Order: sequence, then structure tokens, then C-alpha cells
Amino acid sequence: MKKYLTLILAISTLLGQSPLFAQTTGLKDAFKDKFLMGVAVNRYQINQSNNKETDLIISQFNALTAENDMKWMNIHPQENTFNFEQADKLVALADANDMFVVGHTLVWHSQLAPWVFKTANGDTIDNLELTHRIEKHISTIVGKYKGKIDAWDVVNEALAEDGSYRESTFYKISGETFIENAFRFAHEADPEAELYYNDYNLIDADKRDGAIRIINNLKAKNIKIDGIGVQAHWSLEEPSIEDIETAIEMYAETGVKVMFTELDISVLPSPWNSPTADVSVSFENNPDMDPYPNGLPDSVEDQLANRYAEIFKLFNKHSDKIGRVTFWGLHDGLSWKNNFPIRGRTDYTLLFDRELKPKKAFHAVIQTVND
Ligand code: XIL
Repeated sequence: MKKYLTLILAISTLLGQSPLFAQTTGLKDAFKDKFLMGVAVNRYQINQSNNKETDLIISQFNALTAENDMKWMNIHPQENTFNFEQADKLVALADANDMFVVGHTLVWHSQLAPWVFKTANGDTIDNLELTHRIEKHISTIVGKYKGKIDAWDVVNEALAEDGSYRESTFYKISGETFIENAFRFAHEADPEAELYYNDYNLIDADKRDGAIRIINNLKAKNIKIDGIGVQAHWSLEEPSIEDIETAIEMYAETGVKVMFTELDISVLPSPWNSPTADVSVSFENNPDMDPYPNGLPDSVEDQLANRYAEIFKLFNKHSDKIGRVTFWGLHDGLSWKNNFPIRGRTDYTLLFDRELKPKKAFHAVIQTVND
């Protein structure tokens, strides 16, 4: 019996090295000694509406983030209404498959519920009331999932591009204290949960230094922060591998783990000079900005595969500093980049195509483990 097993193992190892069968090695297995491999799941996937998608999620990934369902407007739509249905299902899916769960996100200026800053008469609330509301929001949600949700994006996108604080309503009412309060409340509600600060453009020097300031401020006050969440909505050219490496090293020096929390790589022209993820910005579509509506030319497919490979080679090199890499969506057809920052385009950001098939980029990423 043992002899046959060895033979079968040998054959499957051989097959695993052929590009035709390489998809039998899941991302989570290939990277098991490096870092967690996560995916953001949408409402249908949390509901397990499509078996093929569910199977792919389970076979490839070992960490889950809800793409939208746990944002304030969905999970806490009215002051006294919490909507836990989707989060419960997410946790059940993760539990059944031994996956790590990230709660995304507790305090963010976007996808927020309209009641949050208003009194019953429609006046803007003061710092004390906002602090109470943030406390109730966080202690209720984090408390409910204590021991079930492993980690939280506690504060999302509190920085402006120059590294100063974003002039959000949270900041206007409470100043920078809303950040430390949020981390304190989350830690009180679940002392074991990992707590992260999450943002986009965190490789750019100014914003990177702003994030390091936040981490150091929290640490100086003995407030727990475990990780920096680098969203990683990137393009074929930017940011450079050198800049990503510098940022990884600098974040790690502060003593936190680095998480790449929302990785996707757009192949489409950007209306900006640098990739961003400010969800409040949008532009008009036109054919120049949507060059590949019927399929990606081989040359660009190769460019994307090479770009992904370079990035994962760097991640592997620094795997001691990196806790997790999460893709922002399961396959190209579902990527938010098809509708951001321009609606209705056809982008090719992820490792699986619109038919759920692994792309060249998938094989290139898996291959980096053997390099
Ligand atoms: C995006 C979702 O993918 C979209 O479906 C939604 O319409 C807008 O938000 N930064 C974040 C994520 O932290 O929550 C955002 O997700 C993408 C940018």
C-alpha cells in the first residue's frame, strides 16, 4: 500500500510541475511556509451561491476578507441596528475550512452609514458623542466575533497623500484621537485579535512616513497595533519593486507585520499619474481608456505575469516580515477595478480569468516559490 502511495505522490509531484496541471497546487499550499494567501469575497460568495467559486476559494486560499459586507453601512446601518447575517456566514465558511478571517473594516470615512455624525435633529455630533458611537460600534462587533475573527482592519485610510491626516469627518470632529481610541476599543473587545492600520499608496514615501508616524504614536502610548495593511491596488509599472522593498523594510523596523491586504494589478491606463484607490473619485469612460474589451493581448498577459512574479519574488525574499497577501477579488470578472476609477471597463487584475481558469500570472506566482 505504502509503495503505491509513494508512486502516486511521485506522479502528482511530476504533474504539478507541468503548467497544464499546475493549478492542482493551490496558492495556499505553495506559499504555506511563507505567508497566508487571502481573497476578498463578495456577498454571493459569502452566501456560497456558485459552487465553482466556492471550490476555488476553498482550494486556493486560507484567509478571507469580506469585500463589502462588514463595512459600517452594511453591518451597522442604523444607530441601534446591527446586521450580522453576512459576517456570521463568512465566519462559518472560514471555520468549516480552517481559514483566517479578517474583519474589514471598523472605522473608515467611506461606505459609512449616514446617521453616524448626526444628532436626531440633524446637527453634527461632538467629539464625546462620536467617541461613544465609535466605542459602541467597535465593542459590539469585535466583541461578538471575539475568538472567531482573527484580525481587524481597525482604521482604514486616515491619511492624505502627503502623509498628514485626511480631513475626514472623523478627523474634523475628534482629531487624531479617533485612531488611538479605535485601536483601544478593539483591543478591549478582543485582546487576542490582531489589529491593523490599512491604507492605499502606502509605498509612496510621504504616505509611508505618515503610516509609520501612526504606528509609532500608537506604540509610544502602549496601544496594540500588530500590522500595517498595504492595500496594493497597483499597476504594471507602479510602484517600483525598489520602493516596495524599502517600505517593507521600514514598516518591519517599527515592529509590526506587513500585510498586503487588497492586491490587484490593473493593466488599464490610469487617469492619474500614480495608482490610487480613493473610492470617492471617478472619471468618464472612453475607448482609449478601455483598450482590451474583448481579451488581453499575449504581450500584456506576459507583462502582467512578469509583474506578478517580480512582486512575489520580493514577497518571498521578505516572507519573515510579511503575514499575509490578500487578493482583492477572486477573478477578473469580479474585480472592482472594472468599475474604478472609471465605470464599465474590462480589466485583468487577478490570477484567475473570467472563466475561473488560472492565468499565466497564476503559474508565474506559483513558480516563484521554486526559484
Ligand atoms: C471596494 C469594493 O471592492 C467595491 O465593491 C466597493 O464598491 C467600493 O469598495 N479600499 C478598500 C476597500 O479598503 O474596501 C475598497 O473596496 C477598495 C479600496
